[in-house]
Amino acid sequence: MSAKKHDNHDEHADGIVEDRKQVPPLYFKILFYALIIWAIGFSAYYLLSGWSSEKEFDKKMTAYQQTYTQAAPASAAAATPAATSTGIHAVNIYNANCASCHGTGGSGGFATDLSGNYSYGKDATSIRTSIANGRGSMMPGFADTLSAAEIDALANYLLNL
Ligand code: HEC
Repeated sequence: MSAKKHDNHDEHADGIVEDRKQVPPLYFKILFYALIIWAIGFSAYYLLSGWSSEKEFDKKMTAYQQTYTQAAPASAAAATPAATSTGIHAVNIYNANCASCHGTGGSGGFATDLSGNYSYGKDATSIRTSIANGRGSMMPGFADTLSAAEIDALANYLLNL
């Protein structure tokens, strides 16, 4: 209704006047089209290159796990195989349960240096008894927390230190 008041190109809406004769400046057009081209390139790269954040994560995780599993035998006992034929990782069991007192690789610390002399006998049977039942007041028994096979593997591991 009130639009009839004006017969030029201007449009009215709530008193705001839109000037359609004004051409956008050149730099704006360049930016505008460059951005469209960039967006097409970006989308194409994302869709076609095969890159994804999940794949990148998996790659880094695999690399990390390789370093982690290789580091344990190197720092503990390089000569001792990490896994027995039963799939038990003596080094890992040792690091989780024993290293806090006996040190990495049995090097001693709070408790006995397990790579040196033993007071309760340095043979498989005595070591298994030490681990399973504990010794003195400070060495806890592990019969309840570790399986017989795990205690065997630990005894083997200690004998090879
Ligand atoms: C809370 C600390 C602590 C933890 C954890 C611990 N030990 Fe001990 N362990 C000791 C102490 C202390 C002694 C010495 C006891 C003594 O001489 O009366 C000892 C003694 C021993 C002995 C006997 C050494 C000898 O002189 O004959 C063996 C073998 C042994 N530990 C193996 C292990 C293994 C394997 C683990 C893990 C499954 C382990 N210990 C976990 C504290 C610990």
